[in-house]
Amino acid sequence: MELVLCKWALAFLLSCWLIVAVVLSVEGLHGNSKVRGVNLGGWLVVEGWIKPSLFDGIPNGDMLDGTQVQFKSVTLQKYVCAENGGGMNVTVDRDIPSSWETIRLWRVSELEFQLRTSKGQFLTCDGDGCSVSATAVSPSSTETFYIERNNDGRVHIKLETGTYLQASKDNQLTADYSGTPGWNDNAATFEMIIIANNLHGDFQLANGHGHDKAKEVLKKHRNSFITVEDFQFLYRHGINAVRIPVGWWIAFDHNPPPPFIGGSLEALDNAFSWAQAYDIKCIIDLHAAPGSQNGMEHSASRDGTTGWPTSPDYISQSLDVIEFLASRYAKHPALLGIELLNEPSAADVPLDVLVSYYKRGYEIVRKHSTTAYVVVCQRIGNADPFELYQANIGSVNMVVDLHYYNLFDTFFVNMSTMDNIQYIYENREAQLQSLNSANGPLVFIGEWVNEWNVTSGSQRDYQDFGRAQLEVYNAASFGWAYWTLKNDRQHWDFEWNTRNNYLQLGHSPDPKIWTGLTLLGVASSCILLQYIL
Ligand SMILES: *[C@@H]1O[C@H](CO)[C@@H](O)[C@H](O)[C@H]1NC(C)=O
Repeated sequence: MELVLCKWALAFLLSCWLIVAVVLSVEGLHGNSKVRGVNLGGWLVVEGWIKPSLFDGIPNGDMLDGTQVQFKSVTLQKYVCAENGGGMNVTVDRDIPSSWETIRLWRVSELEFQLRTSKGQFLTCDGDGCSVSATAVSPSSTETFYIERNNDGRVHIKLETGTYLQASKDNQLTADYSGTPGWNDNAATFEMIIIANNLHGDFQLANGHGHDKAKEVLKKHRNSFITVEDFQFLYRHGINAVRIPVGWWIAFDHNPPPPFIGGSLEALDNAFSWAQAYDIKCIIDLHAAPGSQNGMEHSASRDGTTGWPTSPDYISQSLDVIEFLASRYAKHPALLGIELLNEPSAADVPLDVLVSYYKRGYEIVRKHSTTAYVVVCQRIGNADPFELYQANIGSVNMVVDLHYYNLFDTFFVNMSTMDNIQYIYENREAQLQSLNSANGPLVFIGEWVNEWNVTSGSQRDYQDFGRAQLEVYNAASFGWAYWTLKNDRQHWDFEWNTRNNYLQLGHSPDPKIWTGLTLLGVASSCILLQYIL
């Protein structure tokens, strides 16, 4: 009698185990049923704030591509203005500077620059005696100016012919100053006010250092920032996946378009080998797309503009990069998935453009692999991730990536430790649960960090915040990935957090193992009973 009961119990538990194992597993992961991942940020896509020293030694290092400046005539005490934001003449007649008076630098060399208006045109001058206008669509030599700096913020602007620009009496900017100006108050002297130089990405690094030096700097960085020892560290701490940001130029690795520097492909190959050695899976993430999908340094934007959605060429080049990555890594045992595009901007990338790209990207990955996960990232800014659940992008192994930061929004300013934790349990958890139960793609918290706006948090506060995040994000159906493995700022640095006990990883419940153990228990009792009877 007991024996029959036992057999039934055994059969029942076996089915439970199989169901649990199939439903709750991310295919291909060992040891755990879901992704417990870490991002390899700032490695193959440069972010200056993650490792500022990469930019050390760049001459005129505060005048990199994308730096925003304003020029004020010292004689007229008026600002240079691209009328209407560009497309018209340039005047020197504004008392208060705003966007029309703000110029973004395109760096040609340490001393030569092209000057871009807020609407995207370039300042142009067709030779000595010209009156400068903001009408060039793309820059060449007639849009290139020398900027000479004095150390008190004053500048002279000179044509390649040697003629200096001046603020004329009738408030024009003209190339007719006679002779060489001194640094006293004269019509060719301007104050240059740097209002933002917050872009420090691959474009700024390579164009700032120049090709040879940049190649040296990046070679060293790619070989040393992340190594096989880091994978060992991750393995020891129960991490089973890495998300690896790459730039689009990885597909042209032998000869990438300037100023980008080859060599990141070899580093990615290394990451795959190290991952395989430690039973870790890789998600390749197209973090920087041609033209830039969000205007930020981590999308390798040149000057803060978002060109990606405006050109079919950029979109088809991006699909070529996906094709390249999928064909190269589809059969690699360490591949878990490919993320088609990181953080497209809701303000600049229309949903229909994005969804059409995602659908084509999905088909490309599927052509090379029937099982690799295809990850699509939610738009950042004002967008609801549900928009991607309703988009019907692909049917097999689809994942939507959400980035959860209690940062980057005035909403989080002044929040206490408890407020932050409560936000995780209420807002984040509610959103996660509704997405988990939507009949659609799996949910991935592909970026989060144990950092916030709380400035005086104790170690205990950080532990509590980290625990709350882990508890909630552990419920995401695909899993999560911490941003980021290494960072100059300690609280963003996964290794620092782990070593210093600010983030206590613990172990996520693994239903497979627990049902497996119960099964084992029942089975041995059955055998024991049989033996006794
Ligand atoms: C934060 O608190 C400071 C000081 O009380 C206050 O001046 C500021 O306006 C607050 N900021 C926000 C975004 O609530």
